[in-house]
Amino acid sequence: AANGAKAGKTRNIVEKMEESGKNCIIFYGSQTGTAEDYASRLAKEGKSRYGLETMVADLEDYDYENLDTIPSDKVVMFVLATYGEGEPTDNAVDFYEFITGEPAFSLDNEPLLGNLNYVAFGLGNNTYEHYNLMVRNVDKALTKLGAHRIGDAGEGDDGAGTMEEDFLAWKDPMWKALAEKMGLEEREAIYEPVFGIVERDTLTAQSPEVYLGEPNKMHLDGTPKGPFNAHNPYIAPIAESRELFNVKDRNCLHMEIDISGSNLSYQTGDHLAVWPTNPGEEVNRFLSILDLDSKRHDVISVKALEPTAKVPFPTPTTFDAIVRYHMEICAPVSRQFLATLAPFAPDEASKAEMTKLGGDKEYFHDKINVHHLNIGRVLEIVGKGQKWSNVPFSAFIEGITKLQPRYYSISSSSLEQPKKISITAVVEEQKLPGREDPFRGVSTNYLLALKQKQNGDPNPSPYGLTYEIMGPRNKYDGIHVPVHVRHSNFKLPSDPTKPVIMIGPGTGVAPFRGFVRERVKMAQTGQTVGKTILFFGCRRSTEDFLYEKEWEEAKSVLGDNFELVTAFSREGNKKVYVQHRLKQRSKEINELLEKKAYFYVCGDAANMAREVNTVLAQILAEERGIPEAKAEDIVKNMRASNQYQEDVWS
Ligand code: 2AM
Repeated sequence: AANGAKAGKTRNIVEKMEESGKNCIIFYGSQTGTAEDYASRLAKEGKSRYGLETMVADLEDYDYENLDTIPSDKVVMFVLATYGEGEPTDNAVDFYEFITGEPAFSLDNEPLLGNLNYVAFGLGNNTYEHYNLMVRNVDKALTKLGAHRIGDAGEGDDGAGTMEEDFLAWKDPMWKALAEKMGLEEREAIYEPVFGIVERDTLTAQSPEVYLGEPNKMHLDGTPKGPFNAHNPYIAPIAESRELFNVKDRNCLHMEIDISGSNLSYQTGDHLAVWPTNPGEEVNRFLSILDLDSKRHDVISVKALEPTAKVPFPTPTTFDAIVRYHMEICAPVSRQFLATLAPFAPDEASKAEMTKLGGDKEYFHDKINVHHLNIGRVLEIVGKGQKWSNVPFSAFIEGITKLQPRYYSISSSSLEQPKKISITAVVEEQKLPGREDPFRGVSTNYLLALKQKQNGDPNPSPYGLTYEIMGPRNKYDGIHVPVHVRHSNFKLPSDPTKPVIMIGPGTGVAPFRGFVRERVKMAQTGQTVGKTILFFGCRRSTEDFLYEKEWEEAKSVLGDNFELVTAFSREGNKKVYVQHRLKQRSKEINELLEKKAYFYVCGDAANMAREVNTVLAQILAEERGIPEAKAEDIVKNMRASNQYQEDVWS
């Protein structure tokens, strides 16, 4: 059962809108939190600019049978992310099946959703095959059912890095069209806090009912139990952590996570979600610029001032814990958020600057975006170090994304070790113009610090970052990490005799380590396994060659049935990549595919995965003597039938 049902709340949308006096419901299908954020922003803007009675809703909290009874003076918005290979996000699966499966007309031949007004925005990534498939298909289905779309169906593109600007460019004409349709008057936006902060003077940070990073009541009480999922992590012991390589500014980690004490299970090819903690330096920067230093450990409760708003973390808690464990404070800041903070600036100059940054796309891009500045840094720079003590804390709860779990491709085999999950992660800094320190990934650096701590290294992080991993209650003690498992479709063929071709440069090799170990295990237990070829690429054989020894061991068991093809990109005077190696093996690749080999790609979506796709089509065209267009169709069909599978990221 979804959350709404558990809490005894209604799952009937119409009932919900009526009982709460709403005329605009904004549904989100979100995996990493961005769609959820955009939904909240639309809700706020609708309310403050047009006086709409808005509410945000998680798609999985409602049933859809009565969408046809929503009256035409109301509007439903859909903010829908497309996940991975054109899939709905986890929370949108049921809705998607429902809406795309419904018959278009009722018995008396009236369109089923003839009364429904809707608005649609999609979040996608053009480097993936099925760009914005969710919003496109939902829009199509709703139109077919007779619903009326207001404005265009917007599409944001993460691949081009224009998501935020695409959203901003889409929403203004949409609001105009909506205002016209619903007869709304635009007014000067006034900030109304969604959350109220209540100081709890009788409690201290040591009181047992105060949350200090624990995600829910069971964790607070020290009795966490499953199911462990995106709402409820398992605090897993780290069985082992080590560095696979360590060169200037790059560390690659191998971590073994023990899930034997939980009811978690996984299958080779799944993903492990890691729940990170923010580094102390950024927590301090943020609290300090808001002038919350002296209050950081004060106990507060956060109350929704608006019946349909959800407080995104459990309370009572402290400012410190909210910022450290629940807010995405290290993420690059959004332009619209800066505009909302302008009225609270410490002086006129910084108010003008915030307004300019919020309103001028190019100026924002040059000043803020190219440097990947987070909110704390922007406030420091714009206010020239003055404290921003006038901003209501609610504005940050509303405007900053909830700290999200990060997904890693599992690099172990569930056949070999069903109760231990390994991940392979590279910690890499990103040098950026206009700032002294590089941009550092939140989760990878957190994992690196856990590794340091677990190995008894007194240096908390090679980059000087500190983590309060323990929390005052010693639950996050450095040898535990909060995790859950996300199941994927990235799987070995169920028939082990089928050949497989795997392309995994860099940490893209992670799931293939799992695949190869799985086949080794199968062979050791007497099963026949098919040809297994792995294309691996890295900079140099002596620098970042991942799992080098393990491939030799696999060879010793699988013999000629296993082959590792390497591409060392920085050893010669010309770059050599996995796709070049693939091309050199055209004849054999084609033969294997004719024998129904499965083809897998893991790693960078933007360039590598795309180029591999192109090269594969070239191989088929040349080897089979067919036109390239025909070969491209074959590759498309291979994808559709799951003979070609991707696990890629950008
Ligand atoms: P490079 O950094 O020397 O350019 C793992 O990161 C390996 O992938 C490295 O050897 C890296 O090479 C290589 N790589 C970079 N861009 C690539 C691309 N477009 N296609 C395939 N491999 C690539």
